Amino acid sequence: MIPSATARLILETARIEKVVADFLALRRSGANLTALCPFHHEKTPSFSVSPVRNTFKCFGCGKGGNAAKFLMEHEGYSFPEALRWLARKYNIEIQYTTSTPEQLAAHQTEESLFILNDFALQFFQSNLPGTGLEYLKSRGFTEATIQNFALGFAPDSWDGLTKAATKAGFKLEYLQKLGLTTSSGKDFFRNRVIFPIHNLSGKVVAFAGRILQQNTNSPKYLNSPESDIYHKSQTLYGIHLAKRAIRQQNECLLVEGYTDLIALHQAGIENAVASAGTALTTEQLLLIRRFTPNLHILYDGDPAGISATLRGLDLALELDLNVRITPLPHPEDPDSFLRKVGIAAFTRFINTQAKDFIAFKASILLTDAGNNPVKKANAVHAIVDSIARVPDPVKRSFFVKDCAVLVGLKEDVLAEETNKILQALAKKGNSPFGVGDKPDSARVNSPLGAGGVERQLVRFLLEYGSETFDAKENITVAEHILGNIEDILEYFEDPICQCICRESIELVLAKQPVTAQYFIAHEDLAVSGFSADLLHQSTIEPDPIWERTNYFSGNNPDETGYLGGIAKTICHLKLKVISQHCEQNLQRMKDIAPDDEQAMTRLLKVHEKLNRMRVELAKSLGLVKI
Ligand code: CTP
Ligand code: MN
Repeated sequence: MIPSATARLILETARIEKVVADFLALRRSGANLTALCPFHHEKTPSFSVSPVRNTFKCFGCGKGGNAAKFLMEHEGYSFPEALRWLARKYNIEIQYTTSTPEQLAAHQTEESLFILNDFALQFFQSNLPGTGLEYLKSRGFTEATIQNFALGFAPDSWDGLTKAATKAGFKLEYLQKLGLTTSSGKDFFRNRVIFPIHNLSGKVVAFAGRILQQNTNSPKYLNSPESDIYHKSQTLYGIHLAKRAIRQQNECLLVEGYTDLIALHQAGIENAVASAGTALTTEQLLLIRRFTPNLHILYDGDPAGISATLRGLDLALELDLNVRITPLPHPEDPDSFLRKVGIAAFTRFINTQAKDFIAFKASILLTDAGNNPVKKANAVHAIVDSIARVPDPVKRSFFVKDCAVLVGLKEDVLAEETNKILQALAKKGNSPFGVGDKPDSARVNSPLGAGGVERQLVRFLLEYGSETFDAKENITVAEHILGNIEDILEYFEDPICQCICRESIELVLAKQPVTAQYFIAHEDLAVSGFSADLLHQSTIEPDPIWERTNYFSGNNPDETGYLGGIAKTICHLKLKVISQHCEQNLQRMKDIAPDDEQAMTRLLKVHEKLNRMRVELAKSLGLVKI
């Protein structure tokens, strides 16, 4: 674990403009710097770096945050990896906390496993000349490709690797942990061409070994088992080499096999990854989504390929990926097809034959169903079931339109079916709106909705927190705000706003200033991202309702600018909480026994009091005129 004080030091030391400049050509534009956004395709720069705030923000695609966030997005690093990168750049030494011996041991084990894999990689690479190299060349792979993918060969020996590794001081236990050595002490990969499997940042996590000649006794490919450093469901073959191209082209091609992927890269199609023969997992799709929302699946058109593709499809839709599919002419796979027709025809083929998922699923299911009405109905249900998983309502309604044409049904019949499924999914708590998200209507962040007001308050807190509110009493703006909302903080709806306020209270108690920089450099990425985002919205656009209520004019005529805004924001928040209390109290009045007069009197008194407070607040906000 990187201690949080070190993480903070790193994030505060890192200069966003210097970090970004390591990857992009920045141009000065006023106080900020701009560039073409690396995260989406654009012709005019909307990517902005603010040295003052120490954050970046793209006004085109919305990505933004601190230096660590930039590295995570751009290089695909995990948070700790991004911190380590920054620490190296700024010569900051990381003293890892060794909170528990177990954690330390786990960290050391992981490091040792990576080192051992590197040793194995070199062993395989050094054994390539001869049989292995001939095989790869016979398949048309060039020296450069072989180098690029670090291909190797496991010699035809019982324990060549195991012996070499133990001799070099590696523990047998670790060789077995990685599956390089079997429980009986033999090499796992023997007489096979080796394809190392890398993680996103390019470290070797596993290997696959291909048999030289297919015989029926042993499987064509052997794969390393899962280990502490290899989680098959989170891995995509080739992602470390493909990530940049995927982002630049804003599309990810997905193929099945190792050799398919290598053949595509060799032909210059670098925005491709391989699923390595298993059904796609959510983690793999999320990995892709970090680089692009556009997924293009190339699949071998045999029945097994089709069903695997259909399974992966619904998952991809739920994650709001735009999915296109190109079926290749049976029995070709991308590698064989590319070799057969050449790169130009291949590219033309996948660009003209790509179908969006509805057309694809519909064509397969409807062809299967023929004229059988029951089968046809089932097919329609299956298609609608996929459509219902698309989170974006606009996209969904386009799909419904397309689908209606394809299946020859009225659009509103299909729309109704889709809604039924949506409702059923929502009931199961399985709605396609992401984990814990609320349905569209509840997600709207209207400026007067609680979320909007809470955000507004936090924005005031971060932007003006360290300024003086009352010089005589020596009170800061932060102290003023927090003192006013402390008792309603528990009713906040937005957990991040609540968390920032809570932590601000601690800062105030510790006599520390509450600043935007503090939260932008926060080790909780949700908090730092949120803060950066909030401050980059240069001014919150006044909603017509806000204008009616004179939101920014302040409740005291003398108060102008942000102090007035703060006063009103606090009033709004209080009004909301009090209204909630009012409702609860009314409910209680309904619930008590009719003859319990004592309770009724008490509740009535509470009601009056709450109501008075409510009217007062509403009046000061100009919501009621009395
Ligand atoms: N696969 C596997 N284990 C097997 C067979 C296949 O892990 N026993 C995975 C591999 O990732 C393989 C992919 O499924 O790349 C597709 O399998 P297949 O089409 O049989 O192989 P190809 O990739 O076409 O390999 P090659 O061109 O070398 O025959
Ligand atoms: Mn093949």
